[in-house]
Amino acid sequence: MTEASSPESLEDEHRRIAGIDSPDLLSEARRLDAADPLAHHLNSFADAPGVTAYLDGNSLGRPLRDLPEKVGAFIRDDWGTRLIRSWDEQWMELPMMLGDRIAEVALGAAAGQTVVADSTSVLLYKLMRAAVTARPGRDEIVIEAGNFPTDRFIAAGVAKEAGATLRWVQPDAVTGVTVDDVAAVVSQRTALVVLSHVDYRSGALADMPAITRVVQDAGALMMWDLCHSVGVVPMQLDEWGVDIAVGCTYKYLNGGPGSPPSRTCAPSTTAPSCSPSTVGGVRLTSSRWARSMRRSPASVSCSAAPRR
Ligand SMILES: Cc1ncc(COP(=O)(O)O)c(C=O)c1O
Repeated sequence: MTEASSPESLEDEHRRIAGIDSPDLLSEARRLDAADPLAHHLNSFADAPGVTAYLDGNSLGRPLRDLPEKVGAFIRDDWGTRLIRSWDEQWMELPMMLGDRIAEVALGAAAGQTVVADSTSVLLYKLMRAAVTARPGRDEIVIEAGNFPTDRFIAAGVAKEAGATLRWVQPDAVTGVTVDDVAAVVSQRTALVVLSHVDYRSGALADMPAITRVVQDAGALMMWDLCHSVGVVPMQLDEWGVDIAVGCTYKYLNGGPGSPPSRTCAPSTTAPSCSPSTVGGVRLTSSRWARSMRRSPASVSCSAAPRR
């Protein structure tokens, strides 16, 4: 008679999924902390009495310790004394300057391709709309059934406007979307595929380079939502040939409540239909149009004064 195997405990399940062999999770956590190349930044953040571990980010990273001083200097000097001169002296360039900095530090994208502006939802809408327009004759938008609700609602709206159909990917809820899941649904009808790099519920990490390749092999454009990965998961958008990416700055980039997101678009997505007023200052270094657009304040839309 064979012995029935005992059910896996929740802790064992987490350990298995995370690939942690050590039976002692506390020691393993301490070992990982000691090896963390970012650990020395811990003291840069403001103290939050009573908070031992901030594990529920819920759309808000922690503020930096020197933020009150920086915000004070902005009000006192840049705004208070320089007044409208600050537009020309620094503010007008900030969306591109901050975009390039985020691209360098967190996205693996060369300068001139990333802009900080609008809100995540507004950018998702603009870029989905432009992407579908850039693939005439194709009438499907592929999106994961468990993607963040905002992304699904916006994709549904864009599909309705553009006369396209939504095609759903139904991945495993724990392991997340795979290359095979995507390969099974893309076709000559696919204009655009919209996926999250990190699943907001399970934390599953999608294989960005492999999925992007499968989508592009089908002739479609790939858009990644980086909200839950930018600033916390290393990525190489240029090397992986990503067409379009949108990510917020208020989670792991600690931009504060309401801070505007960033968008990055590959030079290959330069379509005549991606007009400046539709797409805004996306990454298009190789085009003359893009360079002139980056100089033109009218093409940069910011809902609030850019932050420092
Ligand atoms: C993955 C993802 N996509 C889109 C959004 C929408 O962002 P916003 O409400 O700032 O436009 C969020 C917000 O939390 C998000 O987490």
